[in-house]
Amino acid sequence: MMTLKEAMKIRTSRRSFTDRPLSREVIHMLETQIQEANAHPGQLLDFHLVTNDKKAFSGLLKTYGLFSGVHSYIVAAGKAENIKAQELLGYYGELMVLKAAAMGVASCWVGASYDKSYVGQKLPPSDKLYCVIALGYANDHSSMGEKLARRFIRHDHTPDEVMEVDGSKQPPRWFMDGINAVLTAPSARGKLPVHFSLKNGIVTCHADENMGYEYIDLGIAKLHFELGADYIFYDLRS
Ligand SMILES: Cc1cc2nc3c(=O)[nH]c(=O)nc-3n(C[C@H](O)[C@H](O)[C@H](O)COP(=O)(O)O)c2cc1C
Repeated sequence: MMTLKEAMKIRTSRRSFTDRPLSREVIHMLETQIQEANAHPGQLLDFHLVTNDKKAFSGLLKTYGLFSGVHSYIVAAGKAENIKAQELLGYYGELMVLKAAAMGVASCWVGASYDKSYVGQKLPPSDKLYCVIALGYANDHSSMGEKLARRFIRHDHTPDEVMEVDGSKQPPRWFMDGINAVLTAPSARGKLPVHFSLKNGIVTCHADENMGYEYIDLGIAKLHFELGADYIFYDLRS
């Protein structure tokens, strides 16, 4: 099976899926990951796997016509207005995305274009619904919606946009490997609003505003940095 680093390189958002249900192995992997994420100290996260349910993505108005054939998705919810919860949500959700990609399953993070009231009604009132992650086996050819999304969203970010370093020094190779991995991270509207810096061997990072999705974007980017650089962000562990 593909490694997570390899999966990170080939992953791209897909929005058009075949009817093929997720395999038993994939469902088992996702349920295990969800259990682990929801058990993270502080009980900040509430992920759920939903299979065989087309209602969250039915109706053109809800999906803006971008999505087709979505029958499986992960509900990504957590404690309301908690920055750490949002970062962790991005981090753990992207781990699921990459593990699924390594098993041949395509995906797309979705913050806006789905039926939020339908998905939200199944959650406890204390939860905040942040996103869903659409999952499935992608159609061979890109749909109209996918072509549109690719055309209007930026994919050509450069290292300089996501790193802040002392200009007089060449950053070490491992840091640049992390930065290049960040460039492959999904983000809301493809904005990639994240910045990583290195001082005395310690990496710090922050994110600019991105329609309320910036901390999720940051959590996703942190996982990519960790995988690319073989670096661990201790603030995510507890
Ligand atoms: C938090 C978040 C929310 C997103 N919301 C949507 C969405 O509502 N609709 C959509 O079509 N794509 C959505 N995306 C997918 C992004 O548009 C996509 O990741 C970005 O364009 C980069 O493309 P790539 O994932 O193929 O690298 C979202 C991504 C993230 C991380």
